[in-house]
Amino acid sequence: MNPRPSILVARAIFPEVIASLREHFEVDTNDDDVALTPEQLAQRLQGKVGVLTTGSERVDAALLAACPGLKVAANIAVGFNNFDVPAMTAAGVLGTNTPDVLTETTADFGFALIMATARRLTESEHFLRAGKWNKWALDMFAGADVHGSTLGILGMGRIGQAIARRGAHGFGMKVIYHNRSRLDAAIEADLRASYVSKDQLLQQADHLILVLPYSAESHHAIGAAEIARMKPTATLVNIARGGIVDDAALAAALREHRIAAAGLDVFEGEPKVHPDLLTVPNVVLTPHIASATLATRRAMAQLAADNVIAYLTEGRALTPLNPEVILA
Ligand code: 8YV
Repeated sequence: MNPRPSILVARAIFPEVIASLREHFEVDTNDDDVALTPEQLAQRLQGKVGVLTTGSERVDAALLAACPGLKVAANIAVGFNNFDVPAMTAAGVLGTNTPDVLTETTADFGFALIMATARRLTESEHFLRAGKWNKWALDMFAGADVHGSTLGILGMGRIGQAIARRGAHGFGMKVIYHNRSRLDAAIEADLRASYVSKDQLLQQADHLILVLPYSAESHHAIGAAEIARMKPTATLVNIARGGIVDDAALAAALREHRIAAAGLDVFEGEPKVHPDLLTVPNVVLTPHIASATLATRRAMAQLAADNVIAYLTEGRALTPLNPEVILA
């Protein structure tokens, strides 16, 4: 009997997902959840045909060259800027991601950050916890309304659309968006969203949220020049990827009140956070948790596992990034 194929699950995940993988494979796990260096990852992948990764592990030309037996890498994330997909395709390695299962959860969190940022939730909580609340005042932590305001969305994929729906239908917001491609008229009508140029988006939004993928093209899509186009009363929320915003430029703008406030779930070089962001009060900071509900994180991990199982046992995948590898 042939030995069962071996795979690696690069970070700690749910036991029931590991159990589903063990029905088919020898599974090496990282129960201590230590983030592996690229060298450690390559080492652990020797003799293995599959890997479940998170945004912390890179699958690039160097890793692929060091692991010639690898056949599939399943990212437990919808974003896949940690994958060099052309290099994977060239090496005949299938990549998969986890779309759809996290859309509504992530949109909920995007809205939570918009609300927290506009209504100064964490800033006022810090004030209260510090024992500074000794009298009420009419303008105490007065923020900006969310209902009825103009919601700007940069990047209008599945998550952007789910945020638009919440804004238009739940909060009576005027929704404007900018995206590489314009949505069909029927979808725009359903979302009550209007397509505008990036410049109009920056100028008109009361609350601007970023939901676009990270790429060389979107690196620092929001820097000092773009922030200068925004209203001084506007808020900016980033739930997409670190590096889309120039964090140093944003911290300076917040300190000088060139915009009112920001909410950030992702950071350049995370888990490090730009030190200037830690000292400005008008920013809500969260540690990359937009998709973090138990149900959704379970669904993401299971979808990644199901992709590996489907590919290695039946030669198909549920959510492939480079399906041409399957057909080759
Ligand atoms: C992940 C994310 O939890 O899906 C994404 O793209 O950013 C998050 O949902 C994170 O990337 C860990 O893999």
